Amino acid sequence: MSNQISAIRDSFSGRFAVVAAVAGSAVGLGNIWRFPYLVGQNGGGAFLLIYLLCVAVIGIPVMTSEFIIGRSAQLNPYGAFKKLAPGKPWCLIGIMGVAAAFMILAFYTTVAGWTLEYFYQSLTGNLMGKTDTELTGMFDDFLSSSFRPVLWFVIFMCFTAYIIISGVKKGIEKYTKIMMPFLFLLLIVLCIRSLTLPGGKAGLHFLFHPDFSKITPKIILEALGQSFFSLSVGMGTLITYGSYIKKDENLLASAGYITLADALVAVLAGIAIFPAVFALGGSPASGTGLTYIVLPGIFDKMPMGSVFSVVFFLLLSIAALTSTISVLEVIVAYLVEELKMSRKKATVAASLSVSVLGVITVLSFGVFGNISILDRNLFSFLEFLTSNIMLPVGGLFIVMFIGWFYSRDLTNDELTSGGLLKGSLIPVFIFIVKFVAPVAIAFVFLYSLGIIR
Ligand code: PHE
Repeated sequence: MSNQISAIRDSFSGRFAVVAAVAGSAVGLGNIWRFPYLVGQNGGGAFLLIYLLCVAVIGIPVMTSEFIIGRSAQLNPYGAFKKLAPGKPWCLIGIMGVAAAFMILAFYTTVAGWTLEYFYQSLTGNLMGKTDTELTGMFDDFLSSSFRPVLWFVIFMCFTAYIIISGVKKGIEKYTKIMMPFLFLLLIVLCIRSLTLPGGKAGLHFLFHPDFSKITPKIILEALGQSFFSLSVGMGTLITYGSYIKKDENLLASAGYITLADALVAVLAGIAIFPAVFALGGSPASGTGLTYIVLPGIFDKMPMGSVFSVVFFLLLSIAALTSTISVLEVIVAYLVEELKMSRKKATVAASLSVSVLGVITVLSFGVFGNISILDRNLFSFLEFLTSNIMLPVGGLFIVMFIGWFYSRDLTNDELTSGGLLKGSLIPVFIFIVKFVAPVAIAFVFLYSLGIIR
């Protein structure tokens, strides 16, 4: 039966394609926009340390669990839980995932739109020769305006929908495989320039010297949320992608490589940004605009900086696109498989409804700035709710499903590809998904809510 389904379902063609597509989902604005701004706001090195701990101890097992669920069920997150645990409430995790996908797309595409604006501004040469204060003013003016941020949002949403309509192999694979290595190289160039700016060393100190007195419950929750967000786990994106992975791929090894690549890109983004923040006189804690304010300052100090700037913002837009398609795919796979819509109709319906929420989100820095939910504007509320609450809760249930509910034989079968692979790490994996990861996630929640001290 499952062979029949996988013959009909689209699938990724081989190891590099899987790693590239999932890495394409993982690597994006989460690494280059969100990670640096959170590090800057949350005290530097201490945040980095907790983040890396969460990635290694919780991120890899959640990712592997999602792959197991997706590949054995060959369905979207909701359908997968319904098939593997019929008549049980586990499928609610799938519903929560679709809801999270909806909200993430609204604020993520907003930031992707900022990236397109900066690509455009690089092309016209407008970013060069500006001081830190001028760049900050430029970002704030753009953000609080209406027309351009909405326009870029809509353009980005159309790109995402276009790729989703054209299907998994032709669409997702083609775009990820080529662009990712380039972005990586360019980040290294940026790191070198930033590190060699006079006064840059203070940035490295900020990033790599943890000051343990800065650790608070809030920082721990932020780091946990960021590790989930950055790895694209906790909402079923990787259940959906797992369902496209061929049976002979090594799931645990793939999860390990992808996690390593993702964390490396985040750290590189940090090394590119913080030395420049200190050298050029900005503030590490300047919030959501950090990347967009600091990077132009670095390009300005580089030979051929305007060219690098154009290429960088283009690649960053593409990295964002390989992430947005993975989020939209969650909603579309659900609509196609559960509500029996055509792929095209599902994509159009999903994109249009996300756009309604998205446009309000874009404008929450401007005309809708007075709408406040729990003391946050809509953008920051959606960001907080999805990454710090919904993804970790989803992840908690996903590891518990594999650790406590799902058949051990079937788990072993997936992890060894039906006995093909050795699977010597399986006992460690089982121990983590049964005990370590659930306890760690629960601890962070209870601690950040002040229930335990
Ligand atoms: N991981 C992506 C990034 O870092 C964002 C994302 C979150 C994608 C959740 C899918 C699901 O940019």
